[in-house]
Amino acid sequence: MNHIIIGAHWGDEGKGKIIDILAEKSDIIVRYQGGNNAGHTVKIENQTYVLHLIPSGILHPKKICVIGNGVVLDPEAFFEEVKMLHGKGIKVDGRLFVSDAAHLLLPYHRLLDQLKEENSHQDHKIGTTKRGIGPCYADKMARLGIRVADLRNVNSLKVRLGVVLEEKNQALRKLYNHPGLSFDEIYSGLLKIRKRLLQFSISTSNYLYEASKKKKNLLFEGAQGTMLDVDHGTYPFVTSSNASVGGAITGSGVSPTLIDRVIGVVKAYTTRVGEGPFPTQFPPKLMEQIQKQGNEYGSTTGRPRRCGWFDGVITKHAVRINGLNEMVVMKLDVLSGLPEVKIATGYRLGGKILKDYPTSTDEFSRCKPIYESMPGWKEDISSATRWKDLPVNARRYLQRLERLLETPIKIVSVGSKRSQTIFL
Ligand code: IMP
Ligand code: MG
Repeated sequence: MNHIIIGAHWGDEGKGKIIDILAEKSDIIVRYQGGNNAGHTVKIENQTYVLHLIPSGILHPKKICVIGNGVVLDPEAFFEEVKMLHGKGIKVDGRLFVSDAAHLLLPYHRLLDQLKEENSHQDHKIGTTKRGIGPCYADKMARLGIRVADLRNVNSLKVRLGVVLEEKNQALRKLYNHPGLSFDEIYSGLLKIRKRLLQFSISTSNYLYEASKKKKNLLFEGAQGTMLDVDHGTYPFVTSSNASVGGAITGSGVSPTLIDRVIGVVKAYTTRVGEGPFPTQFPPKLMEQIQKQGNEYGSTTGRPRRCGWFDGVITKHAVRINGLNEMVVMKLDVLSGLPEVKIATGYRLGGKILKDYPTSTDEFSRCKPIYESMPGWKEDISSATRWKDLPVNARRYLQRLERLLETPIKIVSVGSKRSQTIFL
């Protein structure tokens, strides 16, 4: 069986933990989009691992991990992560493969991302992770990218980098009054990592095709979430890749006919990090409380995440875009102790009532949520392992979500440990 895991909100739904659990039954775990802007936190026993670029499946000693062509790969970040894993006794050689068609994220991408954010007017800042993701994908589309396979031939690499860097340095000088970056430094940096990176690189699309012919189970690990998707999210306050289901196809070179199920991950509430409208955002006091209870701080940037009530409108949008077959609800325990819990089932925009996400970010920013309120529960549910361990109001809350989303909830998580998971 081949499964795709998708974030159905704005990322940080807790995909890391679920991937770690589902990896058990998979043979190969595939990252297909994004880069080291992602942060997947996995807690195993008393160790916490944060992975940005390498699939979280790497924590299972026997599994194969693939970084697909849709990922933008920062070699410095990649080797740092390999080193971190080796430091913790996790070997990657022979079981980690990088697509030779993946684009390299290079120092000018990072610099341009930082300068653009810093020089943008407050209203136009995206609140990026400043990892260079946007500029790298822009180069890919503009046909100015350098791919892993380009490392094979140093002569053509040298010419290509020369042409590309000249254009980048002109932009740096003209737009940001920056002296530009040194060709020799970037080129020698690439020469240093070239052989080692090529050892990891294969045609991952071929590899996955052959593996699925042999009935290997593939698990596609999404990063970010549907509302950060460059096509279907809150544009322009999005990341620069397809974080929704299509990204798994183009970003891996695996046909949609080979996919069996698409699993959507949400939190029991909604969070967002970075700029952009967020209709169900909590008032300040409740926000602070949930941020604390849920430890809602970005695992890549440390920024506090904005928190709010469960937004049923965007989640239904995600159910439709991704064709979600089932849902996973994370962090239900964080809502314990609230006198009431609310779900947005529609928006009010001027005199109109909207049931669907309106596309226009201007309209979305003026949407006022229409809430359904339900009584909360006081009990600590962090040791619940079965449906019947949950207080009746928590069950009602989940049942309401199922009805609203018209999608079955198959897993509920009540804490960060592997054991704090209810399978339904
Ligand atoms: P970028 O991906 O660094 O360009 O950032 C674009 C937007 O996506 C910003 O709002 C970031 O905060 C957000 N973002 C990027 N990666 C993640 C993630 O892994 N989780 C949550 N938000 C993210
Ligand atoms: Mg994250």
